Amino acid sequence: MFKDDLLAGKRYLITGGGTGIGRNIAKRYLELGARVAICGRREEVLAQTSEELAKETGGEILYHPCDIRDPDQVESLLDWLWSGGAPHGLVNNAAGNFIARSEELSSRAFDAVVRIVLNGTAYMTLGCGRRWLAEERKASVLSIVTSYAWTGSGYVLPSAMAKSGVLAMTRSLAVEWGPRGIRFNAIAPGPFPTKGAWDRLVPLPKLARGLEERIPLGRAGDHQELADLAVYLMADGSAYVNGDVVTIDGGEWLKGAGQFSYVGDIMTDEDWETIRPKKKG
Ligand code: HXC
Repeated sequence: MFKDDLLAGKRYLITGGGTGIGRNIAKRYLELGARVAICGRREEVLAQTSEELAKETGGEILYHPCDIRDPDQVESLLDWLWSGGAPHGLVNNAAGNFIARSEELSSRAFDAVVRIVLNGTAYMTLGCGRRWLAEERKASVLSIVTSYAWTGSGYVLPSAMAKSGVLAMTRSLAVEWGPRGIRFNAIAPGPFPTKGAWDRLVPLPKLARGLEERIPLGRAGDHQELADLAVYLMADGSAYVNGDVVTIDGGEWLKGAGQFSYVGDIMTDEDWETIRPKKKG
């Protein structure tokens, strides 16, 4: 879908790049010629992913442990990264989430998610932004959100509150920093199964039942489809896209929103025949 050298000469930082969606985006960027740095909390996971992706793609990948909830760790990561040359873009992918009844959330449980998704994303974005602005560099920031950033969702309250904050950041800074060469966009993925997310969001087999049938396209997403969208939104070819969020969910959230969309799941051919007006005469 893209030229093999589309991202040649570019450098990108991907938070949470050791696993899941972040790892898949890192792989795709490397395949297209970019140099990639990944960060995350667990050094052994970062080291293994870096070794595997370097082998699989032949690309250049660096890693640095960082808990993005800690502003000091974010600053040391960015000092380390900038010492090797400024990146052209940041992918805010690191997140935390689990399903729970909201009345049972402790303050620590609430903080555990919000401090990663909202605070960590802000520290990372502001840290990169200050450096890019000081150097008058053009750059691009891509944040992974979710469709419940605008609909809200039961049972993932801290994540919904934090992701809507990340979307607000995307739109706010697109306007504030757009004139200075930094653009901001977001991707709202539907179900793209990964171990990290699914262990926490689909912890019982019965929760998985019906997940794919709820989606108009009848299937979960393929990781390459998401990674290719992350390529497009980061690449120079999308330079005029600023402050938007692109949903990639097979139509999932719209189906939930449309008042009569459920009808197709219930009605049989006979039912349609029964309700069809009979021709007069
Ligand atoms: C209720 C829970 C819980 C659970 C943790 N807690 N898991 N409460 N149900 N399943 C509570 C703990 O009891 C504790 O509160 C507090 O949260 C902190 O827990 P820790 O385990 O000490 O926190 P920490 O090690 O910092 O882990 C953070 C985490 C964890 C968010 C809780 O799940 C994590 O590290 N996740 C990172 C990976 C991840 O979540 N990936 C999925 C992202 S998916 P008390 O009061 O007992 O001390 C995503 C997708 C959105 O964002 C879109 C989907 C389509």
